[in-house]
Amino acid sequence: MKVGVVGMGTMGAGIAQVSVTAGHETVGREVELALAERGRATIERYLGRAVEKGRMGEGERDQALGRLSLTTSLDDLDDCDLVIEAIVEELDAKRELFRELDRLTRGDAVLATNTSALSVTEIAEATQHPERVVGMHFFNPAPVLPLVEIVKAERSSDDAVQTAYDWAMAAGKQPVKCNDTPGFIVNRILIPLLNDCVRVLDEASVGPEDMDKAMTNGAGWPMGPCALVDLVGIDIHVHASEALHAKLGEPRMAPPERLVQMQAEGKLGRKSGEGFYRYD
Ligand SMILES: NC(=O)c1ccc[n+]([C@@H]2O[C@H](COP(=O)([O-])OP(=O)(O)OC[C@H]3O[C@@H](n4cnc5c(N)ncnc54)[C@H](O)[C@@H]3O)[C@@H](O)[C@H]2O)c1
Repeated sequence: MKVGVVGMGTMGAGIAQVSVTAGHETVGREVELALAERGRATIERYLGRAVEKGRMGEGERDQALGRLSLTTSLDDLDDCDLVIEAIVEELDAKRELFRELDRLTRGDAVLATNTSALSVTEIAEATQHPERVVGMHFFNPAPVLPLVEIVKAERSSDDAVQTAYDWAMAAGKQPVKCNDTPGFIVNRILIPLLNDCVRVLDEASVGPEDMDKAMTNGAGWPMGPCALVDLVGIDIHVHASEALHAKLGEPRMAPPERLVQMQAEGKLGRKSGEGFYRYD
């Protein structure tokens, strides 16, 4: 299968890594070549680490990297069988992109969006062929976390859903099919739960370390909620909370004031060097 990945940021680079490692010729498209190169450098670093740890041979790594090509031209995706979009989380930008992809790709290609919180149906409706549009929601970091939510939009065909599911399975992932509902499966549950944890910090006067200690030791979570929000990124979590709140209206979905404040101060978690914890 030939795969296109549009957007080579955090998620796109991870998805492209999954794709080339699974043996697919993969074209990564960015708005500027330097950004695509940055995505490739991330993949090189991760695969380099896999070689160091003995999980992958050097030849295997070189072959995987050899399957990746980079472009700024959408036209280079015209012969892809599957295109996975991982650009900014903005409905208009995604609709515009899907309109273009629908025009230039083969009619039997499946077009997938990695959106976290937008409606896959609204993205699909921008195309002339919404039956070939599905959601493929990877989790960060995409090469590490096994789950991929395969989202069936209102008019997605069973064939398109199955193609996305089979592709994820063959790439070693654990896909799960679901309907196009706000937050799909995991975020619908996890976002209000994490927001509750953040509110309890102030309500019960608990520090982040103790909150994480409580949830790992008392609820068996593999990682504490504050460490998890830092890993996800405060801005990403706030944005996803706002989107879910706008759609479902439950007060628990709204981002807690404390997170909004942290975002305004640039404390975005691991990626900025400081969130609930400091990272050097
Ligand atoms: N970060 C996460 O934890 C996470 C998890 C699951 C899903 N998502 C979703 O994945 C998508 C991407 O998120 P991210 O965190 O990787 O963002 P990011 O900002 O790291 O990357 C987005 C990239 O898309 C590029 N881009 C923008 N418009 C483009 C276009 N028209 N063509 C090609 N490239 C374009 C940008 O230059 C940028 O490099 C979003 O929809 C987000 O909601 C994110």
